[in-house]
Amino acid sequence: MISHDIILRVEELSPDELSEAEKSLCEAARRATYRSYSPYSHFSVGAAILLNNGTIIGGANQENAAYPSGMCAERTAAYYAGAQYPGIPFLMIAIAARDTDGQPLETPVTPCGACRQALLEYEKRSGIPIRLLLAGTKKVYRLPSVASTLPLAFDDF
Ligand code: THU
Repeated sequence: MISHDIILRVEELSPDELSEAEKSLCEAARRATYRSYSPYSHFSVGAAILLNNGTIIGGANQENAAYPSGMCAERTAAYYAGAQYPGIPFLMIAIAARDTDGQPLETPVTPCGACRQALLEYEKRSGIPIRLLLAGTKKVYRLPSVASTLPLAFDDF
C-alpha cells in the first residue's frame, strides 16, 4: 500500500497585511453581499473576481423558492465573467459573507465543493492559478490556487 499525504497551504493574514489590490477585491466582495437575494437562508455571500484585463466582476448568491435552483455567489460571478469576457483568465477571487443578522462575518467563509469544481475549470483552461481570498473582517485566508482546495478533483473523462 502507498499512502499519499495531501498538503493544503492556507495563509492566515490580518486584513491590513493584504496588498492594495487584494484589499480592494475583498471590499468588492463585501459590497457584493448587499446584492445577495437570500430570503430563505438569510446568509448573504459576495464574490469578486479580478480578471487579467483589470476588470472586477461581482456576484452574490441568488436563491429561489425551488431551493436547488438557487446559485452561489462564486458561480454567479464566474459564469457572468465567462459569459461577458470569454477566455480572459481569472487572477483572484475574494469571497465574503454576512450572517443571518446581517453582520459581516469576522471569520473566513469557504467556497462549497461545487464552486471549487466550477472555478477549477476556469483555472485549468487559462493555465494561470487563481488566488483565493476568503475574507473575514478580522482574518483572511489566502490560498494559492483553486486546485489546492480540491484534491482528487473530477477531471476530463
Ligand atoms: N453560498 C454561497 O453563495 N457560496 C458558497 O460557497 C456557500 C453557500 C450560499 C448558497 C445559499 O444561498 C446560502 O449561501 C446558504 O447556503
